[in-house]
Amino acid sequence: PEITFIDFSGNETTIDVPTGTSLMQAAMENMIDGIEAECGGSGSCATCHCYLTDDWQGKVNEPNSSEADMLEMVSEPTELSRLSCQVLVSDEHHGLQVRLPESQY
Ligand code: FES
Repeated sequence: PEITFIDFSGNETTIDVPTGTSLMQAAMENMIDGIEAECGGSGSCATCHCYLTDDWQGKVNEPNSSEADMLEMVSEPTELSRLSCQVLVSDEHHGLQVRLPESQY
């Protein structure tokens, strides 16, 4: 499915992401700036923060409780915040848009 990453300045990059890939992996493999992912995807660093859009929020897997705890530590969290390493792409996510924060710290 095609996923569009939108950086803080509004630049869009659309990538065809294999099913089963996390949004974090997709961003890192495609040199998308704005995600640090210091822990490599184990859900423990909170430097892979991203925002979904309203219309997609309910269509991906829900945050588990440890992700929800970590999201309280990111800068500028909103109700659309997610850890991108915890969102797995599947076929029904074609067209998903992901916004990146100004900073991970
Ligand atoms: Fe560390 Fe997502 S990569 S929490």
